[in-house]
Amino acid sequence: MESVQVRPAREEDLRSAERASAVLFLEADQSSRRVSEPEIQPRSDAGSKQWIERMRFYLEADPAGCWVAVDESGVEGGGDGGDAGGDGGDGGNVVGFAMSQNRGGVWYLATYGVLTRYQGRGIGRRLMDAVLAHADGRPGLFSSSVHPGATRRYRKAGFLLYPQMRMVGTVDRSTLPAIDGLREGRPEDLEWMDRLDEEIRGAGHGPDHVYMLDRLRLVVSEDLRRPGYAYIDDEENRAVLLAAADPRTAQDLLWEALAASRGETLVNCITTANHWAVDVGLAARLDIGQEGYLALRDMAEPAPYLASGHFL
Ligand SMILES: CC(C)(COP(=O)(O)OP(=O)(O)OC[C@H]1O[C@@H](n2cnc3c(N)ncnc32)[C@H](O)[C@@H]1OP(=O)(O)O)[C@@H](O)C(=O)NCCC(=O)NCCS
Repeated sequence: MESVQVRPAREEDLRSAERASAVLFLEADQSSRRVSEPEIQPRSDAGSKQWIERMRFYLEADPAGCWVAVDESGVEGGGDGGDAGGDGGDGGNVVGFAMSQNRGGVWYLATYGVLTRYQGRGIGRRLMDAVLAHADGRPGLFSSSVHPGATRRYRKAGFLLYPQMRMVGTVDRSTLPAIDGLREGRPEDLEWMDRLDEEIRGAGHGPDHVYMLDRLRLVVSEDLRRPGYAYIDDEENRAVLLAAADPRTAQDLLWEALAASRGETLVNCITTANHWAVDVGLAARLDIGQEGYLALRDMAEPAPYLASGHFL
């Protein structure tokens, strides 16, 4: 579509990009939902606010990795619904986006989407070309949906797709073991955590750690001869990123996250090299399911590791 331009993202695009993201992921999740799974709910106001806040952070940390597709014809707003996007000349015409970041020698894709009725016309490829040019040949990773356009695009861009499992359910609290050797994390821990990241996935999370530490609970190993850490999102009731030097430490950290959960919980982004997490989930009486892929380029499967969907 000639009226659609792909250009670097700006702060004033974020509201419209958020509307586009909320609408297109709702539609994509609805179309890939299995009948046994609960209905997909629209993104909440708090979720929209968090999305914009996170994109603003990416724009500050590595702006050249953030791209949008905008429809210059003025026909379309940043959403499929009538109220979406109409921001009146302040970037209200976003129809697609690809937000990626370089962290040291590693590149990751944080989020990527094109409005449903704009899909299949090459806009996704143009966005992907832009963010891969920014990667400049770095090894890369991201969490992929099962959307046929997405998986096709990723494989054709040279990524290997590692199927991911997830564990869902309510923890049987009688199974919780006594865990010692863990403590709450502090800003001073970020240095060794970055070194651990480097060993496991090629680069530290750097500023992403600072962002997460501000918003999530951090639990770390006391004994730095067997380092490991996990971020626990108390609102979402689950661990959102876990890294450890050995599977036993990883299992202790995951048990800690499961002990903190109340009601239905989720352990996701489990690739086959991370069956230590499946074993913990099964012991806690959670069920195994499948969920998308970890897409990797020029990188071994990270382990023991549960990637963060947002910061990989
Ligand atoms: C992934 C996505 C961004 C790709 O954007 P797009 O504009 O459709 O991408 P392109 O038009 O460049 O093409 C994608 C490829 O998949 C194909 N494709 C697109 N939609 C498809 C569909 N629904 N079913 C099957 N193939 C599809 C295209 O033909 C194209 O293949 P080709 O280049 O060999 O012809 C978009 O499909 C999307 O937003 N999906 C929903 C959200 C999502 O899953 N995002 C990824 C999160 S990891």
